[in-house]
Amino acid sequence: MCGIVCYAGRQNAAPILLEGLKRLEYRGYDSAGIAILDSDQKTAHVVKSVGKVAELEKKLNLRELPGTCGIAHTRWATHGKPTEENAHPHTDCTGDLMLIHNGIIENFAELKDELIEKGHNFRSETDTEVLAHLVEEYLKGMDEPDLPEAVRKALGRVSGTFGIAVLHRNIPNKIVVARRGSPLIIGVGQDEFLAASDINAFIRHTNKVIYLNDDEMAILNSNNITITDLNLNKIDRELETVDWEVFENEKKGYKHFMLKEIFEQPETVENAIRGRIIESEGISKLGGLDPVLNRLKNLQRMVFISCGTSYYAGLYAKYLFEILTDLDVNVDFASEFRYRNLRIDENTCVVAISQSGETADTLAALRESRRKGALTLGLVNVVGSTISKETDAGIYNHAGPEIGVASTKIFVSQCTILALMALLVGRSHHLSINEGIRIIQELKKIPDYIKEVLKQNEAIRELASQFLNYHDFLFLGRNLNYPIAMEGALKLKEISYVHAEGYPAGEMKHGPISLIDSHFPTVAIATQDYSYEKMINNIQEIKARSGRILAIATKGDNSLSTIVDDVIYVPRTVEVLQPIVNVIPLQLFAYHVADLKGRDVDKPRNLAKSVTVE
Ligand code: F6R
Repeated sequence: MCGIVCYAGRQNAAPILLEGLKRLEYRGYDSAGIAILDSDQKTAHVVKSVGKVAELEKKLNLRELPGTCGIAHTRWATHGKPTEENAHPHTDCTGDLMLIHNGIIENFAELKDELIEKGHNFRSETDTEVLAHLVEEYLKGMDEPDLPEAVRKALGRVSGTFGIAVLHRNIPNKIVVARRGSPLIIGVGQDEFLAASDINAFIRHTNKVIYLNDDEMAILNSNNITITDLNLNKIDRELETVDWEVFENEKKGYKHFMLKEIFEQPETVENAIRGRIIESEGISKLGGLDPVLNRLKNLQRMVFISCGTSYYAGLYAKYLFEILTDLDVNVDFASEFRYRNLRIDENTCVVAISQSGETADTLAALRESRRKGALTLGLVNVVGSTISKETDAGIYNHAGPEIGVASTKIFVSQCTILALMALLVGRSHHLSINEGIRIIQELKKIPDYIKEVLKQNEAIRELASQFLNYHDFLFLGRNLNYPIAMEGALKLKEISYVHAEGYPAGEMKHGPISLIDSHFPTVAIATQDYSYEKMINNIQEIKARSGRILAIATKGDNSLSTIVDDVIYVPRTVEVLQPIVNVIPLQLFAYHVADLKGRDVDKPRNLAKSVTVE
C-alpha cells in the first residue's frame, strides 16, 4: 500500500529517496512521486508518474535535483484513479507546500467544500490534497510562517488516519511528519535523518530508529530532530537499535521473490523453532510470552484475529488449540470481530496474527480487545511494527522480510509458531508430556518434509501447465486441512486471477456440487487422517459428476491414484502438523499456474503487501 520516504541531511536527497521508493515497491502501489527542496536556490521540484518507480526515475534528471531535503511517495489508489494528478506529493495553490500522505481523511469532502469556498484551487480527486490546502490556509494567517504550527492546526480539523510528511519552499531544510493510525519510523544517521512508513526504506542507511506513536509529530532537519505530541509539547524518546535484515533486491537466481520464499521455508521453520523447544518436557519456551505466563495458565478463552492468509493461520490455530488445549477457541476476521458483541474479558486471550504488524483492521480489532480487558498477544513478522508495540506480549516470526505480495513463508512460520503456542498453553493445562514430546519430535522433522515436497517442483510445474485453461477451481479439505484448502484457493486466485473457492469438504454436497462438471476441477487435500474415508467419499461424488481431481495425498497411499486424475504426494507427519506440509504443494501449484499465465506474480494487480486502510 502507500509508502512514505523522507530525507533531510547533507547528501543529495533524490537518489536516497529513489532507492527508498524501490525498497517499498513490494508493498504494492500504482503511482509514485517525489519532491526535492533546494534550499540554496529556494526552489522546489515535484515529479510524479503513473506506474512503477522506474517510470518516475526516467523522468528525473538527478543532476538537476541537488537538494538535500525531500519527500517521496508510492500511492495505492483509494480516492481517485491512479493518475499523475492524483499521485503524491500534493501541493497547495501556490505550489510552495508539498505534502505526502498515507491513510484516509474521512471528512475530506466537507473540508474541501469549505476550502473551495475560501478560494482554494483543487487539482486532484484525492482526500490528501485537502491537507495541503488546509496547512496553506493556516500558514496564510501567520506573520512568520511556522510549518509545525500550521500542520498542528490542520490535523486538528481532520478525522481519519494519517501518516504525513510536509515540506515548504520558504521554510528551508525542514520536514514535518506526523502520524495517527498509519506507521512512521524515523531513522537517525550521521548528520542525517530519514523517515519512512516502512523500515525497509532506509535500513541500509541506519538501524538506529525512533518509532513515532499515534498522535505524535516530528520536525526533522539535517542537524536535529524534535518529537512532539500533536499539540507541539516536546516528548523525550529513546533511540532504538533494530535487528532487521536488509533485504536484498535480489532473487538469488529464482525467477520471483515468491518462489524464493517458498524455497526458503525449511529454513523459515528452523528459525521459528530455534531455541523455542524443550523436548524432554514436551513443551515450548517462548521468551516473548514469559511476562504473561501466569495469565496464560488461568485462561478460559482464546480468540485469534487476523486477515487474509493470516486469518487462515488463525483458523488452523482454532482447530489446533481445540485439540491440544482445553480452552474455548474462536477465530474471526479482524474486520468482523470489531463490530461483534463477543464475550471478551480478562480471562480471554486475543491473539493478533499479522505479517506486517500494520494491518488496519487487525489493529482496530486489537484495540477493541484491549478496551474490553483481554490479554492481547501478537504474532508478528515486522519488528517494531504497531501491532507488536500495542500488545501485552508477543512473538516474532524471525522469518526476515517477505517481499512477494502473496504470503507463503510467513503462513508456514505462523502455523509453526501457533503449534508452539498451543503446546505451551496445552502443557500448562492438561496436555500429557508424551503427547508434547511426540509433537516436538515431528516439528523438528518438518523442514525435511518440506524439502521433500520442494523436490517435486518441476513435476508440479508440469502438472500446473495442464490446468491453464480452467476458469474455476474448488479446493476441499476437512478439519485441520480446511484452512489449508482456503489458503490454497486464496493463493491461486490472488496471483493467477483465476476464480478459486475453498470449502470444508463436507459442505460440498450442500451447494457447490452443482458447479461440478468436466470444466470445474477440484483440488482435494486427502492425506491420511481420521477424516480420510469421508474425504474419499467426497472425491467419489466429484468423480461421479465427471469432475477432474488433483489430490494431495500421503506418500505411499497408492490406492488414491486409481480414483483421482492427478496426485501430489507429501510425507506423513502427526495430524496436527500435517497442514504445514500440505500447504507447500498448493503454494507451488498456484505459483506455477500464475507464472505460466504470465502474471506479475510478486505484485499482483490491485493488491498491497501491507493493508493500512480499513
Ligand atoms: C495473501 C496475503 C494477505 C495478507 C493479509 C493480512 O497472500 O498476503 O491476505 O495475509 O492482508 O496481512 P498481515 O498478515 O500483514 O496482517
